[in-house]
Amino acid sequence: MTTILGIETSCDETSAAVVVDGVHVRSNIVASQVDLHAKYGGVVPEIAARAHIERLDAVIEEAMAVAAVTKTDIDAIAVTNRPGLVGALLIGVTAAKTLSWVWGKPLVAVDHIRAHAYSPAIGLEEPPWPAVGLIVSGGHTSLFLIHSPTSIELLGATTDDAAGEAFDKVATILGLGYPGGPLIEKIAREGDPKAIDFPRTMALRNDRSLHRSRAVKLTDSLDFSFSGVKTAVLYHVHGHGRVSGGLEKLSSPQIADIAASFQQAVIDVLVRKTMLAVARTGVRTVVLGGGVAANKALRSALEAACVERRLNFHAAKMAYCTDNAAMIAALGYHQLKAGVIAGLDVDAYASAL
Ligand code: KG4
Ligand code: ZN
Repeated sequence: MTTILGIETSCDETSAAVVVDGVHVRSNIVASQVDLHAKYGGVVPEIAARAHIERLDAVIEEAMAVAAVTKTDIDAIAVTNRPGLVGALLIGVTAAKTLSWVWGKPLVAVDHIRAHAYSPAIGLEEPPWPAVGLIVSGGHTSLFLIHSPTSIELLGATTDDAAGEAFDKVATILGLGYPGGPLIEKIAREGDPKAIDFPRTMALRNDRSLHRSRAVKLTDSLDFSFSGVKTAVLYHVHGHGRVSGGLEKLSSPQIADIAASFQQAVIDVLVRKTMLAVARTGVRTVVLGGGVAANKALRSALEAACVERRLNFHAAKMAYCTDNAAMIAALGYHQLKAGVIAGLDVDAYASAL
């Protein structure tokens, strides 16, 4: 039995968790900072870092108390060291280094996006790999071919906005508040997803194998672009050439239709590209993770596409969609087993691996 303490401070959630053998979550404490950032309409990096400093000790203590473990039970400390807000990441990394040194336990540095990619496996009896992973968060939208927890290949990624970022920006355009994803999902339930035909952008960027072939079709790329649909919503609300003033003219049912149609456009692209990745790789399992994976309409649409093609489908449990330390401890276990240990000189980085 290998017990890992996980620490996550990459953005606006202060989280610590205790996970056994990479799948059994003994505790997962998440202190959200949503209330601190809401009035600014987005995450303020300095406020996030300061709140992590104030809360992390208590969050770690609670995670260990709930799991009923002491330092002697902990085999290693896993911490997110990329990607994220560097000031925020440094708080978790510094705490993890300190505990590693004082307790004499190995330190494991975990990539946050790869942890999101692993998160659908938490709690499963059998590992789901190999799988195509759709990872949709506020900072990233990526398709991976996951061979194993420690062997992950990037198939495609967004060329501009992440899916969650588009949800957040469209929520701002519609005057719904922050964070936008859950608010759009809620109001979309009242609207008609077919009311407005927003663009389904099929981006093409750095898919080198396709560039080499002669018949390059935009629909063949595994990259994403969500800035176009966001701008289409902006124009729909305010009209071309105008920057504000349209929202007051819209009724609540009209706003609900816009939210539902926007959500459907994003989901259509995510599902189509994921199925393209399945066809391209021949893999028979699809996994879904990241903050936007909490969206029930996306979960059911992707599940339906998988059922239709007789593919296995595993979405991360709701508690492991938005940022959490359980996924960091869980992937940290596999890195520890593979001997991927960090030194006390490990740094924090804004970019993904
Ligand atoms: O994974 P996450 O917690 O943080 C990052 O790593 O970025 O993802 C946060 C993102 C935000 O953009 C938020 O609006 C979005 O996930 N999100 C949702 C839902 N819940 C959170 N988007 C759509 N529907 C939801 N229910
Ligand atoms: Zn995340």
